[in-house]
Amino acid sequence: MYDQFNRKINYLRVSVTDRCNLRCVYCMPEEGIKLISHNDILSFEEIIEVIQIAVNLGIDKIRITGGEPLVRKGIVNLVQEISKIQGIKDFGMTTNGILLEDFAEKLANAGLNRINISLDTLNPETFKQITRGGDIQKVLNGIKAAKKAGLMPVKINCVIKESPKEKDAMEVAEFCHKNGLDIRYIHLMELDKGSFSVVEGGEGGNCKTCNRLRLSANGFIMPCLFSDIAFNIRELGIKNAILKAVENKPKCGTSSFNHKFYNIGG
Ligand code: 5AD
Ligand code: SF4
Repeated sequence: MYDQFNRKINYLRVSVTDRCNLRCVYCMPEEGIKLISHNDILSFEEIIEVIQIAVNLGIDKIRITGGEPLVRKGIVNLVQEISKIQGIKDFGMTTNGILLEDFAEKLANAGLNRINISLDTLNPETFKQITRGGDIQKVLNGIKAAKKAGLMPVKINCVIKESPKEKDAMEVAEFCHKNGLDIRYIHLMELDKGSFSVVEGGEGGNCKTCNRLRLSANGFIMPCLFSDIAFNIRELGIKNAILKAVENKPKCGTSSFNHKFYNIGG
C-alpha cells in the first residue's frame, strides 16, 4: 500500500492490551489509567483477522505491543496463530521484560522472530523510581532468556531526556555492547504537546519515511502516533478502516491528545 505522499506502508504495530505491570513515570499516571473495558478489547480472532487482511493488503512487518503484551492472557497462543499467517517477513514484540524470563522460549517456539526490551538505566534504585516499583533483576533475567531463546537481535529501548551521553544511557549502552544487544535511544516525548522526535538507531519518528499503521487494543486503526486520526474496524469493517487510515495518513505528525503510550504502545 502507498499513501498519498508515496510512502510504502508495510508495517503494523498491534497493541494487544492497555494494561501494564509497571507504571513508568513518562507513560502512566501514578494512580493508573482508565482501562478499556473488557467488552471493547479485541478478541484474538479479531486481531488475527485484522492482521490477515492487513497482510493481504501488503503489510509484511508486525510488532506486538501494549501496554505490556505479556500480561494479556493467552499471548503465546496469539503469537502462534499470527506466525502461521503467510506473508509476514518480520514478527517482533516490544515488552518491558518483567515477565520475559518465563516467556522467552515459549514465544520463540511459537514463532516470534525478535524482541525489543525497555531499559533506561542499570541502577536498580533509578529503575524502581522510573517504573514506580519495578525490579530490574527480572528484566536482566528476561534479556538473558531472550538471547538464549534466539529472539535475535535483542534490541534495547532506552528513553533519554536530552542525549545518549547521559550517565544512565551510557551505562545501558556499555551493558548492551558487552552483551551483544542493539540499543535504540528514544527521546522522551510529550504527545499532547507535540514534542516528538526520531528514534536514534531505530526508524520511528521520521515522518518522511514512516511506513507504519497502528491497531489499538480496542480496534482502531491509527495512521500516526502524533495525531488523533483513528478508524474503528468494528464500525467501518477491517479492510475499509485500514484503507481509510492509509488514505488519511498525515504528511507529518503534529500532536495527539488521545494517544498515550500505554494504549498505543509507542
Ligand atoms: N516518551 C518516550 N518513550 C516512551 N515510552 C513510553 N512512554 C514514552 C514517552 N513518553 C517508551 C517505553 C518503551 C516504548 C514502547 O515506549 O520506554 O520502550
Ligand atoms: Fe508499562 Fe511500558 Fe508504559 Fe512502562 S512504558 S508503564 S512498561 S507500558
